[in-house]
Amino acid sequence: MPYCPIAPLPHMLPRGRQMRNGMSRRDFMASTAVAGLAAATEPLVAASYRERPVGAPGVRVQSNVRPVVVSSANGHRFRNGGTKTCIETAYEMMMRGDDVLDALIAGVNIVELDPAESSVGYGGLPNAEGVVQLDSSVMHGPKKRAGAVGAIEGVRTPSLVAKAVMESTDHHLIVGKDAGTFARNMGFTIEDDLNTDRSRKAWLEWKRRSDPVHYLDPNRKEAALREVMLSMVDDGLVDENHIYGTINCNGVNANGDICGVTTTSGLAWKIPGRVGDSPILGAGLYVDGTVGAAGSTGRGEANLFGLCSMLIVEEMRHGKHPKDAGLEACRRIQHNTIESRLLNDRGLPNFNVNFYVLNAKGDYAGVALYAPGAGSRFAVCDEKGPRLESIEPLLEGSSR
Ligand code: GLY
Repeated sequence: MPYCPIAPLPHMLPRGRQMRNGMSRRDFMASTAVAGLAAATEPLVAASYRERPVGAPGVRVQSNVRPVVVSSANGHRFRNGGTKTCIETAYEMMMRGDDVLDALIAGVNIVELDPAESSVGYGGLPNAEGVVQLDSSVMHGPKKRAGAVGAIEGVRTPSLVAKAVMESTDHHLIVGKDAGTFARNMGFTIEDDLNTDRSRKAWLEWKRRSDPVHYLDPNRKEAALREVMLSMVDDGLVDENHIYGTINCNGVNANGDICGVTTTSGLAWKIPGRVGDSPILGAGLYVDGTVGAAGSTGRGEANLFGLCSMLIVEEMRHGKHPKDAGLEACRRIQHNTIESRLLNDRGLPNFNVNFYVLNAKGDYAGVALYAPGAGSRFAVCDEKGPRLESIEPLLEGSSR
């Protein structure tokens, strides 16, 4: 089936009508080049795009912008049984003229819905009581609007609920049971349990190993829980990158419209109600439509303390390249990490935080405190096609 930039995306089609495999790089470039041209000319631009008031996204064309989508590496790994990853889907939709935020959310929906991804959405690792609680935020640069949900239960795609908060309320953040009620009132299906067999088994094993002591001396508890977690990583039961997990995905189109989305099941085995950085504007995500976007994965507490995505965007506002702005945030996290329970034998942070950053010209970077082995890549999609690129680390080695 030839690729058509205005046809429904293949992952939205019934299984029988999906393409068997992803397109070749040549097909991909041809299709998105056509789509990019289409996005800049009237006839193929979606009606909703044309209906926007003058000055709204889709009206300007800034030829000096290189459209790009960046995300955490899971954005170019999971396909949920379809043919395309998050970044491929988001880039194609963006290039055919769809709203950038809609494109990014359609991308992360693939990851949220994939039961094999245990750090996001359906099948995300649950909290200490075995309940999957999800966080998400969205930001729309051109519209200067945002929405988020924290500790929501029963909805596989919290990013869409975050978008509903943005579009249908006067608020930026709705949390807990009431986030579920809000979602139900907005027409979302609420499920009793978002665990998969895999996430439930992993939780049961954690229970067995840790005999949780959540409210004892915090230092003893931290050390005990860290040891349990690392033993489960060593035994191959938990992916090291999924302890905090998360996907962040940011994009800029040829018009210079910048948006971002972050979505996660948060820290595995967290105390119920714990909310990380993902749904907090300025922490797990920050977008300024005239400057750029930044979002994170990794230990949310470290990022929350410094609101580092906002810090990164502010550094870019003052002229820094995405890489240097991101490394500045990593330096801030290292500087703020002084508690011994959070330091390794070298006196450095014993956790990781990653940032995915782009500016209004389409320059981008992936940075982190550490970039060891499998955790050392981030996903990029632009005119050269989808790929993984190396993360720039602040520190050598790993967090251990
Ligand atoms: N960064 C994801 C979390 O800490 O929940």
